[in-house]
Amino acid sequence: MRSPAEPVALEDLRGGELKTLIADLAETLLAVGGSGLAAPQLAIGRQVLVYRPLAVPGSQEEEPPRLIINPMLEPEHGDLVYDWEDCLSVPALKGLVPRYPKVRVRGVNQQGEPLDLSVEGIDARVLQHAYDHLNGVVFLDRMRDLRSLAFAEEWSRYLADSDST
Ligand code: NI
Repeated sequence: MRSPAEPVALEDLRGGELKTLIADLAETLLAVGGSGLAAPQLAIGRQVLVYRPLAVPGSQEEEPPRLIINPMLEPEHGDLVYDWEDCLSVPALKGLVPRYPKVRVRGVNQQGEPLDLSVEGIDARVLQHAYDHLNGVVFLDRMRDLRSLAFAEEWSRYLADSDST
């Protein structure tokens, strides 16, 4: 999980192996109730991630998971914002992590069609977190101050009240 993932060759998208991976990623994400997941978290070293975009305000429908293959991320706004994160691959811990509030992501979808999205807020945070997994980076590596690392159980008891999200 700590080594960089390999890009996906687009001709592989037609193959069954990748279809299985894509289905597994989305299924696992929904099964565990997570917000984002990257292939290396399932021990598959390919540049594929999935995340669940927040519902559009006013919309009753939940957004389906969005899959991005070979993503490239760049910040669209330079000021970092801090918020709490946890990770399926780092169980029981939460930490304060700086992220860009808005990012542009380019890649391809599971049909091999190009994607070019501007993503902000919590979706941008989830995306940056999942993208880091493709490079073997976990949220602990991004923390500026490990004193804000907390056990999830204590966090929910003592810190959740002060959290605005
Ligand atoms: Ni994670």
